[in-house]
Amino acid sequence: MTDPAAGHKLLHVVGTRPNFVKVASIMAAVERWNIASAALGQGSSALLQQILVHTGQHYDERMSRVFFRELGLPEPDHYLEVGSGSHAMQTARVMLALEPVLLAEQPDLVVVVGDVNSTLAAALVAAKLCIPVAHVEAGLRSGDRTMPEELNRLLTDQLADLSFTTSKDAGANLAAEGIAPDRVFFVGNTMIDTLKAHLPEAMESSILTQLDLTPSGYAVATLHRPSNVDSQDNLELLARALSLVSERLPVVFPVHARTRDSLRRLALFESLDHRTGLTLTEPLGYLDFLSLIARARLVITDSGGIQEETTVLGVPCLTLRTSTERPVTIWEGTNHLVNPDDADGIAAAVDAVLAAPMPAARMPELWDGQAGNRIVEAVVEWLRG
Ligand code: UD1
Repeated sequence: MTDPAAGHKLLHVVGTRPNFVKVASIMAAVERWNIASAALGQGSSALLQQILVHTGQHYDERMSRVFFRELGLPEPDHYLEVGSGSHAMQTARVMLALEPVLLAEQPDLVVVVGDVNSTLAAALVAAKLCIPVAHVEAGLRSGDRTMPEELNRLLTDQLADLSFTTSKDAGANLAAEGIAPDRVFFVGNTMIDTLKAHLPEAMESSILTQLDLTPSGYAVATLHRPSNVDSQDNLELLARALSLVSERLPVVFPVHARTRDSLRRLALFESLDHRTGLTLTEPLGYLDFLSLIARARLVITDSGGIQEETTVLGVPCLTLRTSTERPVTIWEGTNHLVNPDDADGIAAAVDAVLAAPMPAARMPELWDGQAGNRIVEAVVEWLRG
């Protein structure tokens, strides 16, 4: 007998680097489900169809294409070419370009991941067309509404029909906002699924040799949050902090496109680039970056996902923010919040990390590499009605 979930169409929408990492786990899990169904003799009608839409929020080789190649993602079925712009522009362009795609494809479920502008835009278009929405990485809250991602998270979660969470606190946040518990599934972390699947391959990367680094003998820094990199005062302060850190140990700083633009505009790029102990690189591909952080002595970042990756890798992480939507990385992981307004405080936090032994790798509940499989199980159950 044919499975009632069979023949349904899932449409995934991605736009930025962290989206690509998360969807890779989900699409691979759907493929496994399809193979298992075929083995049970369900025939081709048993297949769950997958459509991939790339909004084009991140579009160039280093921010997008290298991730598709390394993560084994298929060519997108639809590429919306929205590119860069203000938040309103980017969100509106995704909405305008996605609507006809959804009308033509008529998916049974639109799957959105994370908290970027593409996530909210896609959820809103689908919900208005009465197409059910699944939000992967639902319920995370920093409590800071000046972060664009916090607004994207709050609104996407209100629109979603299925909410997949990475931690129990996220489920509690959703409950507090009135989301019905039967729509919420605690499944684990798709970003960590992808990390676990690719770590052996990443360890083959020659990036340490290329950058003349020794394992556990360097720090990795990443900065891209508008609150840190868009204003002159903040960026100057963080440049000074990185210089102080580079007096303690070599620092590799893969520079995000937004940060590179700001550093150049504020004439800070050259002086940082010429500093002994500090190596600025282009944005790195997934495997090189994973290899780099896996063997670092510490990581300094303002990213969301890197707080999670360092927790699982057992690498100390100093997050240059005053809040985090991922508190489990502090309670159970290797993450510490450090005030980004205090260069000496950042250097002191680095000294404290260097004086302490390396922490153990930690696995918050269900960060076991199986989140994608749990999502597919829940989606299949939901499709079966
Ligand atoms: C976006 C997300 C952020 C996420 C980050 C991951 C929002 C609100 N922000 O921030 O949550 O953590 O992605 O990297 O959605 N650019 C290029 N090449 C590209 C893409 C962008 O050069 O392929 C440059 C452009 O100058 C652009 C700038 O980077 O203006 C910022 O890109 P954008 O997607 O607007 O935001 P991010 O800062 O990357």
